[in-house]
Amino acid sequence: MKLWGGRFEKATDKRVDDFNSSIRFDSRLYRQDITGSIAHARMLGEQNIISKEDSLLIIKTLGEILDDIENGKVALEIDAEDIHMNVEKILIERIGDVGKRLHTGRSRNDQVALDLRMYVKDEIKNVSKMIVELEDTLIALAKEHTKTIMPGYTHLQKAQPITFAHHCSAYINMLLRDLERLDETYSRTNMMPLGSGALAGTTHPLNREAVAEELGFDSVTLNSLDGVSDRDFAIEFIFDLSLIMMHLSRFCEELILWSSNEFRFVTMDDAFSTGSSIMPQKKNPDVAELIRGKTGRVYGSLTALLTVMKGIPLAYNKDMQEDKESLFDAVDTVKLCVPVFNGMIKTMKVNKDVMLQGAKGGFANATDVADYLVKKGVPFREAHAIVGHMVLLAEKKGAALDELSLDEMKECSEFIEDDIYDAISMTACVEGRKLTGGPAESAVLKSLAVAEEKINKYR
Ligand code: ARG
Repeated sequence: MKLWGGRFEKATDKRVDDFNSSIRFDSRLYRQDITGSIAHARMLGEQNIISKEDSLLIIKTLGEILDDIENGKVALEIDAEDIHMNVEKILIERIGDVGKRLHTGRSRNDQVALDLRMYVKDEIKNVSKMIVELEDTLIALAKEHTKTIMPGYTHLQKAQPITFAHHCSAYINMLLRDLERLDETYSRTNMMPLGSGALAGTTHPLNREAVAEELGFDSVTLNSLDGVSDRDFAIEFIFDLSLIMMHLSRFCEELILWSSNEFRFVTMDDAFSTGSSIMPQKKNPDVAELIRGKTGRVYGSLTALLTVMKGIPLAYNKDMQEDKESLFDAVDTVKLCVPVFNGMIKTMKVNKDVMLQGAKGGFANATDVADYLVKKGVPFREAHAIVGHMVLLAEKKGAALDELSLDEMKECSEFIEDDIYDAISMTACVEGRKLTGGPAESAVLKSLAVAEEKINKYR
């Protein structure tokens, strides 16, 4: 008979058993489930809700069940529906009536809320650790390339020269926000829901704070309806994961472009590239493409869970069992992608010369010519028009701006003198932008130092 079978006269239809069961996917919560039950059992004993003796036997047996599951010694059953009832069933099989006391003052509704919060807390830590490792790679890469000039783009058209360090530092800042976001989600997840019962708490004198303390929660949830029906923390976590994927995906998109024959800014390591079954010359950036593609799956999980939750009345409804697969898939996907991405950028070759050549073509220093004229007293709007004219002239000649002769330049503006060449060299363009957040070496190093200090908090 099912643990809840008392009021039923007929057995469940086989199809309903399969349909209703979540053990296929919630078995991964066994550790959280058993750890939560141990804390609950201890508290029941300490509060004299069950005897000390029973409490100790339950705790000991739950520990053994945990070991046995970890060593693959127990089979979990579809018939027992989910991880919560599987564990309880095994407990009762092993210690009989004593095991039947564990669920006192508890419902699967607050139990699953607890398990899921514990799972999210664990995985936030795991994902943060991977992001910190990725930050270390990016910071090392940035420090190596503070003088590596490359074109910066807007509209994917060359805009102004920057350095590869500056480009990396943009991603370092994005991922730092991801770390901060995960940390904020952690603090909202860090509330212990046991004691909410099915929806309305319990008449037993539970000590919720003691359970929270044993399980490492900061506080307890403050409304029993919300305690069992809140999945905001899971949605927030998937949102955080979605942004992480969006950040990786944007970098991947750039690396796919940059590794093409048209750009050649980077060369992917053989170990992070794949070939074609028909075209012998091919070396494809599959890793970057797959990360870009998998981003869609994580967004899918976010949309799925938002949609599951949007129309259900308080408190628990079985729809909420659908929270797990989306959450697990999003977590698995990110944990798969971040280390591969890390390896890919760690091993790729940065083609400095090609980047520099790229910066030199495409009139990336045009703004600097205008700024030069402004410093000589020309109003900016006028300078803009003059340089526009120079660009036309240079384009016709097939030359860069700094390849025009002084005479040719003077034809465009009498204010131009031979100090122009130094003023608009690629190095001058980059080094002149030393305001906080700019691409000059000193500014990038300062930004990196600030980021590093913040990242250190998450180690
Ligand atoms: N397997 C269920 C879930 O994941 C556990 C909670 C079941 N509660 C209930 N009242 N049927 O949501």
